[in-house]
Amino acid sequence: MKNLIDIKSLSKEQILEILELAEKFENGTAVSSCQGSHVALIFCENSTRTSISFEMAANKLGIHVYNFDTNKSSLSKGESLKDTIENLYEIGIQGVVIRHSESGILDKTKKEVNCQIAFINAGDGNNAHPTQALLDFYTMRKHLGSVEGKKIAIIGDIRHSRVAHSNVDLLNKFGAKIYFCAPKYFEDATQEVIFTKSLEEALKDADVAMFLRIQNERLEDRIPLFDYIHDYGLTTKKLQQFAKKDVLIMHPGPVNRDVEMSSEILDGEYGKVILEQAHNGVFVRMAVLDLLLGKQ
Ligand code: CP
Repeated sequence: MKNLIDIKSLSKEQILEILELAEKFENGTAVSSCQGSHVALIFCENSTRTSISFEMAANKLGIHVYNFDTNKSSLSKGESLKDTIENLYEIGIQGVVIRHSESGILDKTKKEVNCQIAFINAGDGNNAHPTQALLDFYTMRKHLGSVEGKKIAIIGDIRHSRVAHSNVDLLNKFGAKIYFCAPKYFEDATQEVIFTKSLEEALKDADVAMFLRIQNERLEDRIPLFDYIHDYGLTTKKLQQFAKKDVLIMHPGPVNRDVEMSSEILDGEYGKVILEQAHNGVFVRMAVLDLLLGKQ
């Protein structure tokens, strides 16, 4: 593994290697092999979980972290990402963690640059968010063991969701049965999944129900929010009526409270897994950084 740009480029063995190392970092049986490396965090789009989690992971590994403030950088003067990264490499940076609004920009820039710097995707447009899918998989496996044959329902703004796309790529590799549930304006017919007509159908016998944030920053038109909440928003009543008692409720965050799900669910027992996702992300990102920058 030299870069982490999307899940499609990873084999099942590489995914399992990341998860196994993440588990070792979590239980304290692995030590850093990339201490003293230099990594820049280039977040051209806002983030809380991914940016702090990468910074925490890097700090725990003894990596020197450079938080690249895009507004104060020469990107704001029109410098290209290719030129920026080539210069960072000459300064001594060995890896760049990039979040960007443009889909495919990491793949494109990686092909343009003339240096051996590691590219790590922290989310590009609606294309891919590989470390989110990896931490989601890590969380699912903790609760379910294998996901093979398990029903995973993905509900909400699928069209604009890099999280959904990376999760589909990953879960299909491991034999999960993926169901999409979304109104017409959030559908994505390009994916290899089963399409459902209602939240009731999606929740029925689901082992995991992953709700997605409405990506307001990527919408072309306003959506009928009241109808959306009525049809797709999760409430305690719908959960009790339609879902198995032990269903895992997941959400990559940030959550639009009382839109994707009620505050009652978010603040209750079911909402705890969503915080656990953020917790697990640190160990998964430690494993990714160590495999890319370390001596393995
Ligand atoms: N899940 C996720 O990517 O959250 P942030 O946008 O806060 O990083």
